[in-house]
Amino acid sequence: MKAVALTRYLPIGDPQSLVDVELPRPEPKPSDLLVRVEAVSVNPVDTKVRAPKDKVETSPRVLGWDAAGVVEAVGADVRRFQPGDEVYYAGDVTRAGSNAQFQAVDELLVGHKPKSLSFAEAAGFPLTTLTAWESLFDRLGLDRQGGNRGQSLLIIGGAGGVGSIAIQLAKLAGLTVITTASRPESRKWVLDLGADQVLDHRQPLPPQLAAIGHAEVDFIANFNNTDAYWKVMAEVIRPQGRIVCIVENAQPIDLNLLKSKSAAFFWEFMFTRSMFQTADRGRQGDILDQVAALVDERKINPTHGEIFSPICAENLRRAHQQLESGKTIGKITVSGWYESGRGFGSAQGALGSLKKAHSQKAPSS
Ligand SMILES: NC(=O)c1ccc[n+]([C@@H]2O[C@H](COP(=O)([O-])OP(=O)(O)OC[C@H]3O[C@@H](n4cnc5c(N)ncnc54)[C@H](OP(=O)(O)O)[C@@H]3O)[C@@H](O)[C@H]2O)c1
Repeated sequence: MKAVALTRYLPIGDPQSLVDVELPRPEPKPSDLLVRVEAVSVNPVDTKVRAPKDKVETSPRVLGWDAAGVVEAVGADVRRFQPGDEVYYAGDVTRAGSNAQFQAVDELLVGHKPKSLSFAEAAGFPLTTLTAWESLFDRLGLDRQGGNRGQSLLIIGGAGGVGSIAIQLAKLAGLTVITTASRPESRKWVLDLGADQVLDHRQPLPPQLAAIGHAEVDFIANFNNTDAYWKVMAEVIRPQGRIVCIVENAQPIDLNLLKSKSAAFFWEFMFTRSMFQTADRGRQGDILDQVAALVDERKINPTHGEIFSPICAENLRRAHQQLESGKTIGKITVSGWYESGRGFGSAQGALGSLKKAHSQKAPSS
């Protein structure tokens, strides 16, 4: 099968940082699906795993933890899927990734692909959606049925992959969503996704919060730098409020800053359930099925900004490079396989593809 892989960990400008390879098809375990991958998306986990280091792999390592495709075969113990089913999933960071024509994945981590979306559109959802959903509902404990209606949620980093879906999920749950974006285009993006208020994360947040009448907020979901926002989060969280972060801290963080307010702090790591084979890991498949229903009911909009095609090393290097710029809006997805013996070529979709897919709340540029 075709795949995109690495053996050395190199800067993304190096053509050897990701290369096109031929690999044997993976063998599914009894609880696995073997999926024919039709589209993938790129996340910061790819660039972090690929980051330059001295290590050399003895066999090619396939990255990619977001895919949409078709079930080719099922293991003996699989119950929820059969060959031919269209699926989407993030998978397990401890196993080979999705940048390959076929991938083996635990069925419990897999959802049925939204029927109304193309493979390319669907591939932009799983990793960020699971992160956003688990952050809001499993860690912060927000009530999906409106029990926190009107309470305030500050989302730091609203226009990125995770923020783009978190804004929509929080609005569906009735929260007042205050988010951050620093550029006119990212500001427009978050407003179009439903954010109530937008702050500029290049400027101090407390005076901006005070100016909109939310000097303190009930909940904070920080999808950017934990170290950089730690003090300000402690300052603006309301007494007994809750904070979730998803980016590992580089410096020690001072939990004492939260003590006088009895504020709670949570980590969210999307791969915890698969990495530790937790008994409840099937919740990830359930979450993806629930989100597919919300997408098909037009309650959630796709979050992809750009679609590259086909899936090849050159396009994945472009996608990594863009993601490393820190200026990505929504998701970058890569779709379809090249024909053997042909040039790879590449096509770039427009940011406005979100508008084409679902028109009612879409950014126009
Ligand atoms: N723990 C987990 O399970 C998990 C899962 C997914 C992601 N992550 C991590 O979460 C982070 C975000 O992931 P992502 O996919 O959402 O990234 P992304 O799509 O690359 O995020 C890009 C966004 O970050 C915003 N941004 C840049 N500088 C910022 C700043 N100083 N403060 C606030 N926002 C800023 C930008 O907004 P502007 O353009 O408006 O400046 C841009 O829209 C990454 O570090 C990733 O590794 C963790």
